[in-house]
Amino acid sequence: MSHSYSDGRNLNDSPNATFDQILEARLSRRGLLKGAAALAVAGSLPLAGCATGLKREGKLGFSAISVSTADAVRVPDGYAANVLYAWGDPVGHPSGSPAFKQDAGNTADEQALQAGMHHDGIHYFPLPFGSENSSNGLLVMNHEYSDDGLLHTDGFANWSADKVRKAQNAHGCSVVEVRNAGGKWEVLRPSPFARRVTARTPMKVAGPAAGSAAMKTAADPVGMTVLGTFNNCAHGYTPWGTYLTCEENWDTYFINSGALTADHRRNGVSAKGRGYRWNEFDERFDAGKHPNEPNRHGWVVEFDPYDPQSQPVKRTALGRFSHEGAWPATARDGRLVMYMGDDRVFEYIYKFVSRDVWNRNDRNANRNILDHGTLYVAKFSDDGSGEWLELTHGKGKLTKESGFADQADVLIRTRAAGDAAGATKMDRPEWIAVHPATNEVYCTLTNNSQRGAKDRAGTDRANPRVSNVFGQIIRWREAGNDPAGMKFEWDLFAIAGDPQHPDAAQRGNIKGDAFGSPDGLWFDDGGLLWIQTDVSTSTLNKGPYERLGNNMMLTADIRTGEIRRFLTGPSGCEVTGVVSTPDGKTMFVNIQHPGETSSERNDPRNPKVVSSWPDGPAGGRPRSATVVIRKNDGGVIGT
Ligand code: FEO
Ligand code: CA
Ligand code: CA
Repeated sequence: MSHSYSDGRNLNDSPNATFDQILEARLSRRGLLKGAAALAVAGSLPLAGCATGLKREGKLGFSAISVSTADAVRVPDGYAANVLYAWGDPVGHPSGSPAFKQDAGNTADEQALQAGMHHDGIHYFPLPFGSENSSNGLLVMNHEYSDDGLLHTDGFANWSADKVRKAQNAHGCSVVEVRNAGGKWEVLRPSPFARRVTARTPMKVAGPAAGSAAMKTAADPVGMTVLGTFNNCAHGYTPWGTYLTCEENWDTYFINSGALTADHRRNGVSAKGRGYRWNEFDERFDAGKHPNEPNRHGWVVEFDPYDPQSQPVKRTALGRFSHEGAWPATARDGRLVMYMGDDRVFEYIYKFVSRDVWNRNDRNANRNILDHGTLYVAKFSDDGSGEWLELTHGKGKLTKESGFADQADVLIRTRAAGDAAGATKMDRPEWIAVHPATNEVYCTLTNNSQRGAKDRAGTDRANPRVSNVFGQIIRWREAGNDPAGMKFEWDLFAIAGDPQHPDAAQRGNIKGDAFGSPDGLWFDDGGLLWIQTDVSTSTLNKGPYERLGNNMMLTADIRTGEIRRFLTGPSGCEVTGVVSTPDGKTMFVNIQHPGETSSERNDPRNPKVVSSWPDGPAGGRPRSATVVIRKNDGGVIGT
């Protein structure tokens, strides 16, 4: 989903940037910025270990494609892209496989057995667990939000409890079993693994905030069970084969008929919400009546796709904010590290380091690894160094005297804790990718039109452009190449833009094909970096983006810095998720909100139809979908 938040709602107004600006001025006076300026050149940070330790060596081997405004998924010569699993397709649950109705006439109960809307983060789990099976596995993905204009035959008209229930069932996650049947991928129906998790699925709360006073509601007086997960943007996974689904713009589902608390404001909960209208038939979505219900959202949720009966668990130790995703690395000593971005203008980058070493031989022994550990927030200094600031109650300013009651309070109010710690305000942290051999970390900073605006934070070396419409990709290397390190060195891998743009400020420094608003970011096992874009519909093909066409996916060779355009998506879409099979020969890419109009909510009765992908004009409603990409010669994708 694109978030411009041009109304200025929920901007981080803490004073940290002021401090950074003072620091920058001081550093400039001392002439220390020369080195930092040199850092902002693609490919300048030397790689530790280079390609050693990779499963195979990825080398760009395709011809870049042009930009496009076609209502189609386009891939390079020698490749094919086919739709596998679109909104409304049956998930293959043993209890039934209701077919999608093109007039959106499916009931709420049918929707609970079908693909949700707005495919986003996606991961492939080979079957069985622990194998490298590249022809049979589980695809697990997020369904970020609902477009009620498309979801119901008559959109928002005649709004009802059933419509709310259908919308809630269109959220959450899908688990589908997929198989390569003689070169053609298919969803197995039925499959014992097939599952939908929705905005109504009961989930357990675990970690330091579980059962705390701020988690208790009328419906859950012990604060241990929450109904559902929603606005699951990107994802994550653990090395023990569980899926993580991350709650991003959860605040937009609430209205508040009473008084907004400081925490409501800090997190974006507003009086009127963003028009989902769940509160009209599900009272917990009125934060005025149920002020603690918002505290129960904004978490990372873990579930085991290999066990369809397993209950999802909200892991509160990983903090509460607009979670984009959660990506793992293993520390030198075997503890688990999770990197996470908070996707809102001027928000922070976090990492969690587990207390315990994870067990490589017994996945059940890892059941509670994510409940014990330490959360940190990143500070990027202008001299190219960085540090992780600990968010533990009793340390620094996170004390009772400063208004933090205990660790549960620190975690529920993670953003306030990050403010107090003095973290660096970033240009909307989206996906994070950890290099499979070197542990170098890359993070997309998608854009921030508010950077440098009146009363907003100005630029720093990590976020170097005012009115930043194109975004950048930052990367860092932890001290000792240990993901648990407390200090790091950073630089900007690429400043996005249109190299042909008449305005020099919009050109960036891309070595290769133009793009902007990087969002999805993923390393394949060969070390190729895949970049997906989320240019908001209000900007697509307009203004600075007028030459860049539809949203796209590109591939980068981080050794040379070269970036090539690999895929362009259908009209009005965003390209949201990517993963490959272990052999690298099949890639799954998610296409979200084809046909989205800038009104944010589609209405099928609106004559301005911009996409009929993937079913074509005869089909009718545009549908988000998972696409399978194969190389015609059966080779490794991208090479
Ligand atoms: Fe839902 Fe951060 O993109
Ligand atoms: Ca985005
Ligand atoms: Ca995203």
